[in-house]
Amino acid sequence: MTKIKTKWVCQNCGYETPKYIGKCPDCGSWGTLIEETEVIKPQNTVKTMDFDDTPVCLINEIEVDESIRIPTGFEELDRVLGNGLVQGSLVLLAGDPGIGKSTLVLQMAGNICKNGKKLLYVCAEESGSQVKLRAKRLNVNSDNLYVYAQTNLEAVLSQLDTIKPDILVVDSIQSIYTANITSSSGSVSQIRECTNALMDVAKNKNITVVVIGHVTKDGNIAGPKVLEHMVDTVIYFEGDKYKSQRLLRSIKNRFGSTNEIGVFNMAESGLEEVTNPSELFMKEKTDENTPGSVIIATKEGTRALLVEVQALVGATSYPSPRRVSTGIEFNRLLQIIAVLEKRIGLNLSKHDVYVNVTGGIEIDEPAADLGIALAIATCFRDVVVDHDAVIIGEISLSGEIRNVSDIEKRIYEAQKLGFKKVIVPKMNKKLLEKYDIEIIQVPRLMDAIAKCVSKKL
Ligand SMILES: Nc1ncnc2c1ncn2[C@@H]1O[C@H](COP(=O)(O)OP(=O)(O)O)[C@@H](O)[C@H]1O
Ligand SMILES: [Mg+2]
Ligand SMILES: [Zn+2]
Repeated sequence: MTKIKTKWVCQNCGYETPKYIGKCPDCGSWGTLIEETEVIKPQNTVKTMDFDDTPVCLINEIEVDESIRIPTGFEELDRVLGNGLVQGSLVLLAGDPGIGKSTLVLQMAGNICKNGKKLLYVCAEESGSQVKLRAKRLNVNSDNLYVYAQTNLEAVLSQLDTIKPDILVVDSIQSIYTANITSSSGSVSQIRECTNALMDVAKNKNITVVVIGHVTKDGNIAGPKVLEHMVDTVIYFEGDKYKSQRLLRSIKNRFGSTNEIGVFNMAESGLEEVTNPSELFMKEKTDENTPGSVIIATKEGTRALLVEVQALVGATSYPSPRRVSTGIEFNRLLQIIAVLEKRIGLNLSKHDVYVNVTGGIEIDEPAADLGIALAIATCFRDVVVDHDAVIIGEISLSGEIRNVSDIEKRIYEAQKLGFKKVIVPKMNKKLLEKYDIEIIQVPRLMDAIAKCVSKKL
């Protein structure tokens, strides 16, 4: 007999309970539990051996071929994936609606198919002709690219043995459904069930599966959060919808580091790789600098990136002054302000301090400290930092400048982009001779200010 089971499922984290409750005990959010029904089909026989008979073996006997990676045709994407798509893996590409996920995937599909791989693109949100129109605009065209406008998962799975694709793309996980359960598509149960089935496809048929997931601000539709622990790799595609720059960031990767970012530019003809992102994250270089603006050299994954840090300091009208940081850790900002007050004697207690990293970059390393400190100090005193200098260094509580990791890469990046000097912590003598750029070593915060600020503070 078919049984119908009713349960309440948190649309935020996937927590299940048989009765309604207002607050999810798992993730703490309110009002996110939604009633879902599940039809449990009768099983003809009682299965006692319902599992794969994978043999137990010695670790030395297992052979893995790490070399089977499928290049996506985008270096920026390959790097974020950890050197291309791993065969038989499941990748989740998540992002806000309209950010460009379908565009990215379709362009990737075109690139992959050019190399002789077969790809099945399931467009559950759009019709075949819509996809074709986009493909035309993006100049994507291949005999190996199959498009299937289908929302039913079973129908998709039934095509796999006929088409035999190397890669399966599902756009998006929120709009496909399995007939095995009756909850509506996009609910946590559907998403979980469909992802499970796709994971099976990846592992058992050795097909690489790329799943697109929408992130929504309100908790009503299940975001891809519930999927994150199920899939091999999670990549976020981010950016401001009204600006053309897009960032790819991996937040989970079973096959590579999660530190890498990829940078794209959205143009009429699709996404273009930005191979020299430093240029993007700095405002146009002019001969004059403005108070409170500083160029720093940060690291994103394996590469150095020059980024502009801006500070705004002004007399406060609040009982306690405001400290606001965008792109840097709040406590780091408080610490830098404390050091400026104590070691340099800047009295910021009656001033609001806003610090902003341009371009939506998140900096989570202390190498930006010195740049941030100089941005605040120069804005406060209305002086400028030399426009042709890049600032690198961590600040200790005593006001000393500490060394940072991979300083060479950072200096080379500054040199490459035509800066005249870098302000760095004290360095090894041997290292100093390698560059064509002036290197100014500063042991203390005081020295940095003396060396690159237009006037005395
Ligand atoms: N005809 C067009 N010309 C230029 N850009 C377009 C055009 N159509 C769509 N776009 C860009 O593509 C974006 C939508 O991308 P899409 O890949 O559909 O996003 P997602 O799949 O993440 O929802 C739009 O926000 C817009 O910037
Ligand atoms: Mg889309
Ligand atoms: Zn929850």
